[in-house]
Amino acid sequence: MKNIAIFASGDGSNAEAIAQHFKDSTIACVKIVLSNRQKAGVHERMKAIDIPSITFSKEDWKDCSAILSLLQDNNIDLIVLAGFLCIIEPSIIKNYKGRIINIHPSLLPKHGGPGMWGHHVHDAVISAGEKESGITIHYVTEEVDGGEIIFQDSCPVKPDDTATTLASRIHTLEHIHYPLVIEKILK
Ligand code: GRF
Repeated sequence: MKNIAIFASGDGSNAEAIAQHFKDSTIACVKIVLSNRQKAGVHERMKAIDIPSITFSKEDWKDCSAILSLLQDNNIDLIVLAGFLCIIEPSIIKNYKGRIINIHPSLLPKHGGPGMWGHHVHDAVISAGEKESGITIHYVTEEVDGGEIIFQDSCPVKPDDTATTLASRIHTLEHIHYPLVIEKILK
């Protein structure tokens, strides 16, 4: 049985989709959810399905030793970023090399990199007049959104799309594919 840790800063719909997918799995389970935001919606979602979620401080994130101990104590095999807005500290990348993945709501390398998160990504896609967007699941390296791509899927950008309507279409794709890609990696 493999153990997953999810890092999330926001609503947590991906964290929930992943946790539900592995609920009765014999392959893996979501052991713990970590967040940099006490008020992130992910905590309520995890509480409702009995998965421990904790908030760490800015100091803990900078130092990282307590977070690394927590990951090690929970025998974490894979770190899954799901709407996590902090840059991953080099010591975490070093200790979990090739075992950290992220999901980005565009077809990387388009519309990625520092500052490209949430509605900023969808606004950029719409402003660029893209006819399609999508999701990218990739390994995490020290370059923001720059690691090896594992999976992509696309969806149309409609002429009357707003960042909200496009985000909703993208979320549907994410909830379908992220759990399946994680399962494939862990197998
Ligand atoms: C997702 O669109 C993901 O691609 C991006 O942040 C969003 C998180 O959404 N990295 P949620 O918090 O999982 O609902």
